[in-house]
This record gives sequence, C-alpha cells and structure tokens, in this order.
Amino acid sequence: MIEFQNVYKSFKDKHVLEDINFTVNDGEFVCLIGPSGCGKTTALKMINRLIKPSQGTIYVNGKDISEENEIELRRNIGYVIQQTGLFPHMTVKENIELIPKLKNKNDKHLLEKVKDVLNMVGLDPDEYLDKYPVQMSGGQQQRVGVARAFASEPDIILMDEPFSALDPITRNQLQDELLTLQNSVQKTIVFVTHDMAEAIKLADRICIMSGGKIQQYDTPEQILKHPANDFVLNFVGKKRIWDSPELIKAADIMIDRPITCYDRLKCVKALNMMFNSSVDSLMVIDRQGHFKGVIHAADAADEKNKDEIVGHVMQKECITVSSQESIVDVLNITKEKNMYTIPVVDDGILKGLITKSTLVTTLSKKYDESEGE
Ligand SMILES: Nc1ncnc2c1ncn2[C@@H]1O[C@H](COP(=O)(O)OP(=O)(O)OP(=O)(O)O)[C@@H](O)[C@H]1O
Ligand SMILES: [Mg+2]
Repeated sequence: MIEFQNVYKSFKDKHVLEDINFTVNDGEFVCLIGPSGCGKTTALKMINRLIKPSQGTIYVNGKDISEENEIELRRNIGYVIQQTGLFPHMTVKENIELIPKLKNKNDKHLLEKVKDVLNMVGLDPDEYLDKYPVQMSGGQQQRVGVARAFASEPDIILMDEPFSALDPITRNQLQDELLTLQNSVQKTIVFVTHDMAEAIKLADRICIMSGGKIQQYDTPEQILKHPANDFVLNFVGKKRIWDSPELIKAADIMIDRPITCYDRLKCVKALNMMFNSSVDSLMVIDRQGHFKGVIHAADAADEKNKDEIVGHVMQKECITVSSQESIVDVLNITKEKNMYTIPVVDDGILKGLITKSTLVTTLSKKYDESEGE
C-alpha cells in the first residue's frame, strides 16, 4: 500500500504540490493524470524517493519511507519511464538482470526469469536476449522497459508515461498486454499519463491533478458520471462517457419511480390510474415490492376484463434487466425483441423502468450540439 499524507513540495519558492493525500491499495492500478507541469512526475518520484517532500509523509506498506534505506526501497519498486531508461551499452538480458542481480547475486534461475518476463511482454527471448536497445524499435524497447520493471518481482511498479512516445497501435497493444499482465500478477501500479482514454482503459482509480492539487480521485466510472468540479468536467470532456458506453448502467437512465399497482386491483381502476398519469401500462408489484408483471391499457380496457383483477389479466412473462446492466445490453434487447419498455429488477424487486423516451433522451445527449466539448 502507498499512502500520501499532507504532502507538499516546493522547488525554491515555487509550490508544485500542495497538501496531497491519497492511498493506493495493494494490487490496485492507479493512473495519475493532469495537464503538463501539474506535478505528476514529482508525485511519482516521491514514492521511490528520487524526490523528497518539503513537508508531509509517504508510507509504503505502512512504513514512513523517509526512515527507510532508499536503495532497499527502490529494489522493491519497479520504475518505467517514457525514454525507457535502458542502458544503451548493455544487451536486453543484461538490462533486465541488473536489479534482480543486486537483490540476489547467485540466483540460478535468473536466466529463466529473464526469459519469462520477455515472454510476458511478447518478445521472443531467443531473438532479443542479446540485442542492444538501438537494434530495436521504440515499442520493443518499451516492452523491455516493462519487462525489466517486473523482473525483480517488486510489489510496486511506477510508470511515467511509458507508452506516450509510441504510435497508437503499438500503444494499444502494450496497454492490452499490461492489463493481461496485471490480471495475473496483481502488482500495485502507479501510472502517469496525459491520455484520458488510456487512464479509463487501465485504471482501477484515476487521480486527476491540476495546480498541484488533487481534483478528483475515483473510479473511471464515477469520474465520467460525477465529475467533482468544472475542471474535471472540462478535462474529461462532457461526452467522454460515450467512448465507454458500457459504463452507463440501467440504473443511470431508468425512471426511478415507475407507476405501479397491486395485482388485486380491478382493471377499471388500473385503467383510470393510467389515464390520470398519461401512461399506457402499469408495473404490477406485491406489497414487498416484488415485480409481478405488466398491465397494458389495451388489456385492461378490454370489455371482457372489466371486472377482472389486474393479476389475472397482466402480462406475466416479461423481459427484465438488472440495474447494473449496461445501456449497450439494454439497446441490444430492444433491438432483438423489438420492445421498448423494460422493467429494471434486482433480486425480484422492481427498481425502475426503462422506456423508449428514457432511451431516446439518453442517446440524444450524445449528439446534443449545445453540450459540445
Ligand atoms: N528539479 C526541479 N527544479 C525546479 N522545478 C521543478 C523541478 N522538477 C519539476 N519542477 C517543476 O515542478 C512542476 C511540476 O513538474 P512535474 O515534472 O512533476 O510535472 P508533470 O505533471 O509530470 O508534467 P508533464 O506532464 O509535462 O510531465 C513544473 O512546473 C516543473 O517545472
Ligand atoms: Mg511528467
């Protein structure tokens, strides 16, 4: 775990970080993002003590790092930077071995480990072990940088815009590989980036900084849906959520309190309720709020049903969705089943209703010019 407590940093009289407080949990992937010069690299370098705070305390695994041996500290923290930081006069093998060797001189399995990490980042060891950095492309060098950070099996990995110099395709590939890698090894990762799409894709939580302060620290979903202030809103972009529509959940768009009735109600009364609220169906529930079915105006108005109770006339077989279903799935249902009124039900309880008009309202936000970024 990494913890910043009231951390300040000034270079001479320039305040770069002010009262920074945040925690990165074990196994968590956190992205630091913000405009150039906002202090991301400074914050990152404080974790491995390349920069010392002017004030405040940083804890790694519960220990105040200012009281720790910095060489020891760094051996347990992998570090990847944009320019790879590979030593040009060393081969790939020598570059990767460097830190593990410092940790354990006589590791008989070292070569295997080096091969393992190379395989992990998608480089064939037979081809690349003895190559020098200049003999490789930028993307390949960056892969070696990542392999090197993982090779010493640190708990924590710090990455400072590791993929920003790469072309979009290579960058995407490396992001995917890093995610796969992270799924299997679960390191604690702090990753600096300029790129919001990258942060949304990679991070469990995103820390948005500006002016030396944290503006918001939350999951990508929360940041997209509930930006803490105007800075975050503008930085993220109002329509960014449409790049990740799977983050929009039924709960976000549904009508919270659809009009309901009990199954013992007479159809004429149900019809009256519909008339008064200008709807053409009612959700039928029991006293505990369990969803029972839908009564449609056409059925309630049928002459033969006039004296029947709703429970006998309602449609019982209904397609429902859970509140956590994404809008993408909801739209697929509307398309496949050609139906636009979908009750939202969790554990049998009616939570809300999605209608054609909620969908249209939601989707139109994507195209609303007045909301342009
Ligand atoms: N050693 C230093 N001496 C003086 N000022 C510094 C030093 N290092 C950083 N700064 C200043 O601190 C501020 C924050 O720098 P930092 O490198 O942390 O920004 P950043 O958010 O990583 O920016 P970028 O996105 O451009 O990498 C900048 O204004 C920078 O000029
Ligand atoms: Mg930086």
